[in-house]
Amino acid sequence: MNIIRMNNISKYFSINNTQALDSMSLEIEKGEIHAIVGENGAGKSTLMKILHGIEHYDSGNITILGRTGMVSQHFRLINEFSILDNIIIGSEPTKHLFIINRSRAKARIDKIFTQYGFQLNLKTKVTDLSVGQKQLVEIIKVIYNDAQILIFDEPTAALSEQESEKLREMIISLKKNGKTVIIISHKIKDISAISDRFTIIRKGQYIETVITKDVDLKEISHHMSGKDIVETLIDTQSGIKEPIKTFQFAGKSITIHKGEILGFTGYGGCGLHQLESLLEKQALIDPKMSYAPSDRLLKGVEINSKLKNTLIAKKRRDFTHFGFLKNKEIDNYAQDLINRFDIKGSVNCQTGTLSGGNLQKAVIARVLDENPEILILSSPTWGIDINSTNEIYANIKEFKKNNRGIILLSYDVEEIKKLSNRIIVMYKNRIIKEVTNEEKITPRVIGKLSAGIIDD
Ligand SMILES: Nc1ncnc2c1ncn2[C@@H]1O[C@H](COP(=O)(O)OP(=O)(O)OP(=O)(O)O)[C@@H](O)[C@H]1O
Ligand SMILES: [Mg+2]
Repeated sequence: MNIIRMNNISKYFSINNTQALDSMSLEIEKGEIHAIVGENGAGKSTLMKILHGIEHYDSGNITILGRTGMVSQHFRLINEFSILDNIIIGSEPTKHLFIINRSRAKARIDKIFTQYGFQLNLKTKVTDLSVGQKQLVEIIKVIYNDAQILIFDEPTAALSEQESEKLREMIISLKKNGKTVIIISHKIKDISAISDRFTIIRKGQYIETVITKDVDLKEISHHMSGKDIVETLIDTQSGIKEPIKTFQFAGKSITIHKGEILGFTGYGGCGLHQLESLLEKQALIDPKMSYAPSDRLLKGVEINSKLKNTLIAKKRRDFTHFGFLKNKEIDNYAQDLINRFDIKGSVNCQTGTLSGGNLQKAVIARVLDENPEILILSSPTWGIDINSTNEIYANIKEFKKNNRGIILLSYDVEEIKKLSNRIIVMYKNRIIKEVTNEEKITPRVIGKLSAGIIDD
């Protein structure tokens, strides 16, 4: 039985002249896990926002037999509130907010925690949480709201592999409890490991719906992008290199060298978040450093400014002549970056109207273009499709050639292995191991170290 039927849905955004959805159709069966796949900017989030009723559509029709709950790509939590309040808000009538039976609410949340194996202190303020933990709060909130149809927009993008695994298990148990789940993801594992079927969307159009177990992994990635995947290979050999900067972290002295990528990884809560805060502060006072944050909406960009202004950010002064902005040059310059990084957006569009992956590409394009001596990249390919990920790797490779240093923070062990010359694995806020990236340091070995297991 179909619990959802979306027929010929079209959506045009006049503000940036984009046909986000072009007669798109989707059918979801009750009780299935259905993945939506497609390139950055294909229209996935727009389609799900329309389904959830938070975005209008121009034409088409929709039948839904049940209540939807959505964990969106960008967090909508209130930083100054506790986890508990964030979960309760919007779930209860507002006028009763301060007379809600908090202990009853707490008991219900505790039950969800036990059922799904979560561990979070409900009193903690959201501002103190890592990106992965914030994501969990969003998920708990949807479960708490008792939706029958759960929509996840890239839920594992910012999570460590261990957290992602937990989430996938949780989605399976949601299904066992009779829920219907729709998941948008660029991660092959999310699709292959848990989905029953997946639908491919390209340039706002329906391509096809596939039964997951009928296709192999390679085919899935091909389906996702509709193109051949060109892998970028990066030289991760170590050699004698000139130091650029030394800083203290977790009681250790850490040096970054010219032409080196120093990768930090670990499981969620291992201390990467603290390291990121420290490096962010250093970048503010050290002109040698630039920083691309993992929480791109919060710190990465001004969503209300034009894309060209986001892209030129620190270079604004270069485009001023006797106090006047050289508009034509700014446009040309921004357009060049848009082309080079294949950002789906125009120079004058509002930055906030870009799709999640394109927003991330804009942040990366900007920092790479600043050409700092040291670049701090936190989860640089979070939410980015397979082909664009390889394009970003190619840009990182170019950047590194000019004797620049990169500090890479990532929960993705494959990414760490692929890019880093040296790898530092964190465990419980300590450095458990520092290694050069040799052949024997496989993603599996890195994963074991992240779990605190050292076997020499
Ligand atoms: N509020 C908006 N105003 C203007 N344009 C928008 C708006 N929301 C989305 N768009 C545009 O619609 C297109 C589809 O965006 P959408 O966010 O649905 O893509 P997506 O498939 O979710 O991509 P990603 O994988 O990067 O998250 C993009 O070109 C985007 O810029
Ligand atoms: Mg999206």
